[in-house]
Amino acid sequence: MSLDAVLARIDAELPQATERLMDLLRIPSISTDPAFADDCRAAADWLVADLQSLGIDADSRATPGHPMVVGHGGDGGRHLLFYGHYDVQPVDPLELWDNDPFDPKVEETPTGPVIRGRGTADDKGQLMTFVEACRAWVAVHGSLPCKLTFLLEGEEESGSPSLTPFMEQNADELRADIALICDTAMFDPDTPSIVTMLRGNLTEELTITGADKDLHSGYYGGPARNPIHVLSSIISDLHDKDGRITLPGFYDAVPEISDELRAQWDGLGFDAAAFLGAVGLSEPAGETDRTPLEQIWARPTCEVNGIWGGYTGAGFKTVLPAQAHAKISFRLVGDQDPHAIRETFRTFVKDRLPSDCTVTFKGHGANPAARMSIDDPAFELARRALSPEWPNEAAYIGGGGSIPIAGHFKSILDMDSMLIGFGRDDDQIHSPNEKYHMESFHKGTRAWARVLDALSRG
Ligand code: BES
Ligand code: ZN
Repeated sequence: MSLDAVLARIDAELPQATERLMDLLRIPSISTDPAFADDCRAAADWLVADLQSLGIDADSRATPGHPMVVGHGGDGGRHLLFYGHYDVQPVDPLELWDNDPFDPKVEETPTGPVIRGRGTADDKGQLMTFVEACRAWVAVHGSLPCKLTFLLEGEEESGSPSLTPFMEQNADELRADIALICDTAMFDPDTPSIVTMLRGNLTEELTITGADKDLHSGYYGGPARNPIHVLSSIISDLHDKDGRITLPGFYDAVPEISDELRAQWDGLGFDAAAFLGAVGLSEPAGETDRTPLEQIWARPTCEVNGIWGGYTGAGFKTVLPAQAHAKISFRLVGDQDPHAIRETFRTFVKDRLPSDCTVTFKGHGANPAARMSIDDPAFELARRALSPEWPNEAAYIGGGGSIPIAGHFKSILDMDSMLIGFGRDDDQIHSPNEKYHMESFHKGTRAWARVLDALSRG
């Protein structure tokens, strides 16, 4: 009965909830670019004010990077910690957006209305599903359903550098019975999901330098070493012809998935052709002996995320560049150690460097993979509570992306994390024209109300 009233309140409030989300989306909180530091602070302040309006004792805590939003509210029942991130990815290439990424719009599409703009699905729309469920609960019952701690981060998209020190320094304040993370997608639009495996991430930027200045490629081409050639040759050495990564020892800590898990995943009926077809591809790349689903959920990868050097402007310039640059990242699984792999990668590059070239490295984020145990009865309570909103029952699935905090909750605070999100594969997160389905926003909010009800009573 009381849950029905909360669900009805959520339905009635959808237009206002959408407006609130749009307000947050208008703040360009791009964490990786220092030019947007004030906007990150503004997004944190917006969330503090919004949480305070629900009677939550919230504030913004300074870190060496962007602020952390921490809030406490409610009493009794299970103590839940909710995590989301208010930072977003950069928007470039801006010319591929149909609209201003920070002027969000509701748009009709063949699969229903969507909210379009940077951060809609990753992660502002998702984190607001939880806040809106709490708002409806407070409106109907006058208080939150149980003891709740909020931790909203502003550096997730840039590797969460301030997160571990912050968690260590505030461990007693943050520790709860279980963490809820809303930053993942559903298996498909009809199947709500709890993600139980996330890959780790290691990011490296490198610059290879040859001559001490850019040269005329006619005067010098041939005898003068071209650093772009050196870089491309090293990059092509990183994979063998079967798509395996060639760094020594790279696969040592990569486990094979169990037959039981493989059977469970097979039962989901993943359609690889449709998955690739949706982005204009038809032929799976990567490890030749692994299915696309296994590659994404359970295998490590190495991708070049950016490469530049020489002349890339209008027209043509016959230059022999002095430098070549790349940003390269690894997704990690099992017990792969990101710091050890960073060292192996650097040695691999140096071993292939001609004597006339030098290399410099800049390490960005590094976090290991996370695998959740689902032994805590809260998982089954939540899985059952989630299911009624969608045609299919909720499933336990893997996730290809990385959310650094998921592993830290276990290692620093000894807490399990439950990853529940309502994104769709085609949300275009990190890409131009990112969107979040109105159905994800609406049903996601309703689903959180159900999960909160189940977890506060069960
Ligand atoms: N929400 C994503 C992670 C995600 C995406 C999980 C899809 C499961 C499925 C998150 O915000 C993200 O993009 N994280 C970055 C982290 C990295 C910079 C350390 C990522 O995965 O690239
Ligand atoms: Zn995210």
